[in-house]
Amino acid sequence: MDLIAQIDKTKVPHHVAVIMDGNGRWAKQQGKPRVYGHKNGVKAVRETINAAGNVGVKALTLYAFSTENWNRPKAEVKTLMTLLLSSLKNEAKELIKNDIKLQIIGNQENLPKSVLKGLKKVIEDTKNNKSLTLTIALSYGSREEIVNAFKNISKKVVNKELRVEEIDENIINNHLYTFTLPDVDLMIRTSGEKRISNFLLWQIAYAELHFTNVLWPDFSKNDFYNAILEYQNRERRFGKTSEQIETTNEI
Ligand code: IPE
Ligand code: IPE
Ligand code: MG
Repeated sequence: MDLIAQIDKTKVPHHVAVIMDGNGRWAKQQGKPRVYGHKNGVKAVRETINAAGNVGVKALTLYAFSTENWNRPKAEVKTLMTLLLSSLKNEAKELIKNDIKLQIIGNQENLPKSVLKGLKKVIEDTKNNKSLTLTIALSYGSREEIVNAFKNISKKVVNKELRVEEIDENIINNHLYTFTLPDVDLMIRTSGEKRISNFLLWQIAYAELHFTNVLWPDFSKNDFYNAILEYQNRERRFGKTSEQIETTNEI
């Protein structure tokens, strides 16, 4: 039976986040330079977006470039930025056709102007789309995001727009780059590494984590469906007991 047919459409995670890792190792296996891996990773991005759409995921967040990735060799950073821009331009029509809304999270100040301009156009062209929100984490670091939230909350307190007593989880949530998104339900990381690498630290508090050895350029729709199936076989307890979950029938 097709993997997709095994998925329970009533228990699909709302928000899936993906750490797309392993491009460099994939290229190395073929005796090619690292950027060859990045170029071949574009297809896996397309597969993932389509697979998410097929099963009814409402929010998909992809980690494309971390704040720490700025420390990579200049030529690799440049290729990644160019690749990002060209692939987004190529995909823009598909996003519109498939009712996908694009947004970005991260520190935009560091991004090349051309990249930002190209992105803003696609963001504008897709802003009313509803089926799926595709968020690209670009020049993103979770700690940087939290520092930014602290600063903005502090300013409001100083300006007396907010009282200290009012600061709660919702207020913090609303000051993160991801303020429009629900918590992450499922986080996937490819390439066999079992770490979070500064991605959505606050937002994954109760996410299910799925690690696969598949290197990013090889990641396919079926790999995505497998992650969803594994998620559906887990019991999310949110601190409660198994018995409590069974009686309330929560997922
Ligand atoms: C993921 O692949 C892409 C980015 C981080 C931009 P890597 O480039 O990290 O590939 P590996 O981990 O070195 O194999
Ligand atoms: C995490 O991958 C960042 C992205 C996938 C964009 P890295 O390859 O940069 O992470 P580390 O260095 O292995 O932790
Ligand atoms: Mg890596």
